[in-house]
Amino acid sequence: MGGRQVIDDLSLSVHPGECIALLGPSGAGKTTLIRCMSGQLPPDSGHVLLDGQDVLSMRRSTRRRIAVVFQQFNLVGRLDATDNVLAGRLGHMSAWRAMLRRFDSNDQLLALQCLERVGMLEHASQRADTLSGGQQQRVAIARALAQRPKVILADEPIASLDPVNGEAILDLLRDIARTEGVAVVCSLHQLEFAREWADRIVGMAPDGAVVNLPARSFDARARDDIYGRVWGSKEEAGLSRLLRDLYV
Ligand SMILES: Nc1ncnc2c1ncn2[C@@H]1O[C@H](COP(=O)(O)OP(=O)(O)OP(=O)(O)O)[C@@H](O)[C@H]1O
Ligand SMILES: [Mg+2]
Repeated sequence: MGGRQVIDDLSLSVHPGECIALLGPSGAGKTTLIRCMSGQLPPDSGHVLLDGQDVLSMRRSTRRRIAVVFQQFNLVGRLDATDNVLAGRLGHMSAWRAMLRRFDSNDQLLALQCLERVGMLEHASQRADTLSGGQQQRVAIARALAQRPKVILADEPIASLDPVNGEAILDLLRDIARTEGVAVVCSLHQLEFAREWADRIVGMAPDGAVVNLPARSFDARARDDIYGRVWGSKEEAGLSRLLRDLYV
């Protein structure tokens, strides 16, 4: 990216119902990987496949089966929660219907069902910019669900939330994975959350090294393999170690 190779030799499979946490220091390439997986960024080499099909050659409506959730929620503030969720249907409609935002009653019903699924039905008519951060992220997840996704890619979905709301959002994503069979890949900066939440942890180091382990096996050594290069050697004194412990 920008002339520098960010991700090298990474192979990753995600199964229905599975939760994968992406960990790694800033600049390690988590967002870049998520953009490649969603088809927004073509990899220089290699492929991203969904059910055996290359995401880059998919029809628009098939690619919408990969939904993305962002740190800053990316809602349209002046629209209410329902209209934001309906945006998740745009990729499934003909171009002219999408342009005119002509949603049929099935789409309207689905939007309300998705809001109910994330516990936001009572806020269906509320403008997005009047919702709290946690509520906005729930609406963003409802919008993702309206895409009827096979995969949800969440790029630091809890980074703008307090720990309680953050944990609730992770619980919601895991519940969606388990009950709807959606594969969820989520980049995080908190190792402890990742260990509790994920089935697998994929750790990305800034030099391109990758650790891919069941979450329970992601131990201090794996952490040092990913973050250690940033925070320096074990002999280095207090502050960097303290920072690392606080950070991960
Ligand atoms: N559009 C771009 N053009 C050029 N370089 C980019 C671009 N976007 C990201 N990069 C570079 O690619 C590398 C990986 O960035 P990326 O955003 O994927 O990291 P990240 O792991 O998501 O970091 P963070 O934890 O801060 O979100 C960084 O060196 C970054 O500067
Ligand atoms: Mg990022």
